[in-house]
Amino acid sequence: MTKSPGSAVETHAIGAALERMDGRAKVLGTAPYAFEQRVERAAYLHPVQSTIARGRIRAIDTSKADRIEGVIAVITHRTAPRLASDDNRELWVLQSDEVHFRGQFIGAVLAETLETARHAADLVHVEYDVAAHDVGFRAEREDLYAPKCVNAGYPTDTDQGDAETAFAAAEVKLDATYATPMEHNQPMEPHTTVALWESEKLTLYDSTQSVHSVRTTVAKLLGLRPEQVRVISPYVGGGFGSKGEPHAHNILAALAALRAPGRAVKLALTRQQMFTLAGHRTPTIQRFRLGATRDGHLTAIIHEVIEQTSRFQEFAEQTAVPTRLMYAAPNRRTRHRLAALDVPKPSWMRAPGETPGMFAGEVAMDELAVACGIDPIDLRARNEPERDPESGKPWGNRHLVACLREGARRFGWSDRDPRPGRRAEGSWLIGSGVASATYPRYVLMGSRATIRFGADGRYLVRIGAADLGTGTWTTLTQIAADALGCVPEAIHLEIGDTDLPHATVAGGSSGMSSWGWTIVAAARELRRRHGPRPSPGAEASAETPAEADDDTFAQHSFGAQFAEVRVNAETGEVRLARMLGVFSAGRIINPRLARSQFIGGMTMGLSMALHEESVMDERFGQVVNHDLAGYHIATNADVVGIDAVWLDEVDDRSTPMGSRGIGEIGIVGAAAALANAVYHATGKRIRALPITPDKLLI
Ligand code: MOS
Repeated sequence: MTKSPGSAVETHAIGAALERMDGRAKVLGTAPYAFEQRVERAAYLHPVQSTIARGRIRAIDTSKADRIEGVIAVITHRTAPRLASDDNRELWVLQSDEVHFRGQFIGAVLAETLETARHAADLVHVEYDVAAHDVGFRAEREDLYAPKCVNAGYPTDTDQGDAETAFAAAEVKLDATYATPMEHNQPMEPHTTVALWESEKLTLYDSTQSVHSVRTTVAKLLGLRPEQVRVISPYVGGGFGSKGEPHAHNILAALAALRAPGRAVKLALTRQQMFTLAGHRTPTIQRFRLGATRDGHLTAIIHEVIEQTSRFQEFAEQTAVPTRLMYAAPNRRTRHRLAALDVPKPSWMRAPGETPGMFAGEVAMDELAVACGIDPIDLRARNEPERDPESGKPWGNRHLVACLREGARRFGWSDRDPRPGRRAEGSWLIGSGVASATYPRYVLMGSRATIRFGADGRYLVRIGAADLGTGTWTTLTQIAADALGCVPEAIHLEIGDTDLPHATVAGGSSGMSSWGWTIVAAARELRRRHGPRPSPGAEASAETPAEADDDTFAQHSFGAQFAEVRVNAETGEVRLARMLGVFSAGRIINPRLARSQFIGGMTMGLSMALHEESVMDERFGQVVNHDLAGYHIATNADVVGIDAVWLDEVDDRSTPMGSRGIGEIGIVGAAAALANAVYHATGKRIRALPITPDKLLI
């Protein structure tokens, strides 16, 4: 019997370790990133940036730049087209003489070559009325304030019971303050936009986690109808959240395009510019107080967070939010307070909230385990809540303890001597640590998918989703094949273009869940209308079904991170020896890509633990180590012995695929596991990241 590729079969498409469908094109260099898209009549844009951190532009003289041969336009706040909306101050580009942070766009030069644009931009002469700036991020500030809510809409403060009184009365108390530094996302591909204004239509080739949010935002700002804006982004070289929303460069490129109709205006941020213009993770100062009985039952949890926002527009990281669900305790208090500073707007960076918050929380749990004389895994298991402590909802699928126990077995935890500083090889001290991980299961409403069965026996599946390097091309193909009962080869997927049906952002690890659910709904609709053997031309669409919004259960992924480190007693150098992550994330759509996501997240956590720190020079209000020579990220030589596994699980409550998102959970808790391992190796508790040699030598 022969079957056409599109005929219904049990395909096992979900769960297959397929190679990336875009892998070959990537290796051959034929998967175009935004800057590489073939365009006619290219022109190059180079920004002029403020050299003060706060004040006003008194005078701006572009005459020298204007005279350079090859310059097409010099744009400043005086000459830029007016924007239609000022609700997003980060995007209110070249509209006023105000300077809110050092490095802000205050002009741009469009020229025939990149070199000309850059040279002419240097010739723009600016005079300022300088105002005193303030970028001092400190806990003692008197102007800290409570935002109305924190990122993703969570409450700023929560209180259950009487945490202060319960803490004061606790048999065992831990009161410690933790700090995480400012960090920058640093995807390999910089933020890039190519903008073309032609026949009253704007086309943007962009590097983005959401073509549709770029379109909506840009159209609104420019006063265009959404249909007048097309955003194309088939391949993206990483984002980690920094491409989850449009930034000022999108608007700058669009404004320049309006000035030069018919020219393809190309703008790629330099690596240095990405330390100013693409968002950052806020630094945090976190006071944790844990009260417990002598046998390790938590009676009080108090987590108070201080973080920064820009003065001109608020972003409040949800750092204490994971503390609301991790462990059982009758009395609990969480707080977020912001310092509004003259800095660029902080933004999303892989697992905003969970990443810094779980560093503090999971080191605090390790410290409590030591104080109680209890194994840190047993301490966590002892405080396992039966329901979500905050909402009282039943758990959808909480397998934290199973992850910890499975990890302990695989990692050889039972052989561990709990006393710190007991193992050494020469001058290398050896220790191991554990931490929990968690990340919410998000499904965003509002995507749409269309499926059409073609004369070639293949299904054309269309949705404006994004693949920021995570594997969306492959996983959505697998999900569609599974839903349609065909082999993956019978799916022809189209993503990354606003000409496709609307898709929500690749953010909050929601992409695969939201788009996958929508594709499944469209496949079911096609089957309902046309049966299992549709005729060529049969077509159906669907939106994300309402049931995706059901929040009966508290649905989160969990994990356990284990790390073994070697610390040189003479130099303070910390090296990872091995690391294991065990995750509960529902059904795994593609083990090869999932492993890559988990290991990638853990690597970013290792990098956070040992290397990453954006250093603010308070005199000038800028990050001084603003390149990849000064801002250290883990390299191949640092990444040794990292392994990730997962529980065999199908979570039908989370999505019809049985899966949950996995883009972010890999980083959560990873830095805490390393910090706890460093303590175990050395007896030194480092509460401020990164764990650099100087902190271990004093
Ligand atoms: Mo992710 S930081 O929500 O793109």
